[in-house]
Amino acid sequence: MFPIARLRRLRGTLALRSMLEETHITLNNLIYPIFVEEDIEDYIPIESMPGMRRIPEKKLPAEIERIAAAGIRAIMLFGVSHHKDATGSDTWNPRGLLARMIRAAKGAVPEMIVIADTCFCEYTNHGHCGVVVKGFVDNNRTLKNLGKQAVNAAEAGADVIAPSAMMDGQVLAVRQALDRSGFMDVPIMAYSSKFASCMYGPFRSAAGCELKGNRATYQINPLNAREAIRESLSDETEGADILMVKPALPYLDIITKVRAASLLPVAAYQVSGEYAMIKFAAQAGAIDEKRAVRETLGAIKRAGADLILTYFAMDIAKDGF
Ligand code: PBG
Ligand code: ZN
Repeated sequence: MFPIARLRRLRGTLALRSMLEETHITLNNLIYPIFVEEDIEDYIPIESMPGMRRIPEKKLPAEIERIAAAGIRAIMLFGVSHHKDATGSDTWNPRGLLARMIRAAKGAVPEMIVIADTCFCEYTNHGHCGVVVKGFVDNNRTLKNLGKQAVNAAEAGADVIAPSAMMDGQVLAVRQALDRSGFMDVPIMAYSSKFASCMYGPFRSAAGCELKGNRATYQINPLNAREAIRESLSDETEGADILMVKPALPYLDIITKVRAASLLPVAAYQVSGEYAMIKFAAQAGAIDEKRAVRETLGAIKRAGADLILTYFAMDIAKDGF
């Protein structure tokens, strides 16, 4: 009888649908990015990212314990600095915010995987991701500083180094600096396909790193795919252990292509703008938040991401996926 293929046969009950679900997300796959501010007494809600707040540095150990108790196994730390300068030198100061927050997180919960975002924009007074020389971010001077920052983070106890400045050669520079300091076993998660996206808007107010101008001279043009694959492949040859695509949902094609082009694990970053779009649409009653989280994270995983960085990690830890 027509039709022969009745795909609805396998959709008839929740039990059947669950049995045949092809994509799975557990807390093992999720990385929770958090913001830590120095010299403040209380939590500060981040208006552009409902549900997220800046954690006072002195409350970080208790916060890490809370995050671990919820079942989260990996975090990415972002510092909100009160000690900015032209080069972001606080990032390679062993007593600076970056080193202190890594030490505090590892001290509170040693088994928590602490990932160090390795960049300068949160620590420079101009907001760019490196050393500015005559209005242009100088690649090789920034590489030197990335190496120093990575070693500082590893010395403080970081489990993974995640260079995100989009300087050419940054993975090799970080690898060599780590190896020379005895950290040959510390892996690198490379922000390799990182686009010059409008979706970082809420992050910049969250981390207090608004910049005049843009990052178009170092981040990838959002309309380019081949170039993004080239970035990822060159990071692999430079020694990356994990390749990241960022943002995630508008770049599912890139996730799929990187997955096919490399055997390395692939991470995808559901960024602040993706988070804010869902939160504000849900607050307006336009969409169901929990379903939107399930559908978008599911799509990112389905496209080929092994790991997802998401500000929804805590919500998922609390109420499931
Ligand atoms: C630092 C960095 C940024 C983000 C992660 N690491 C900002 C940027 O590149 O402008 C954005 C994350 C987000 O929007 O959630 N380079
Ligand atoms: Zn940066």
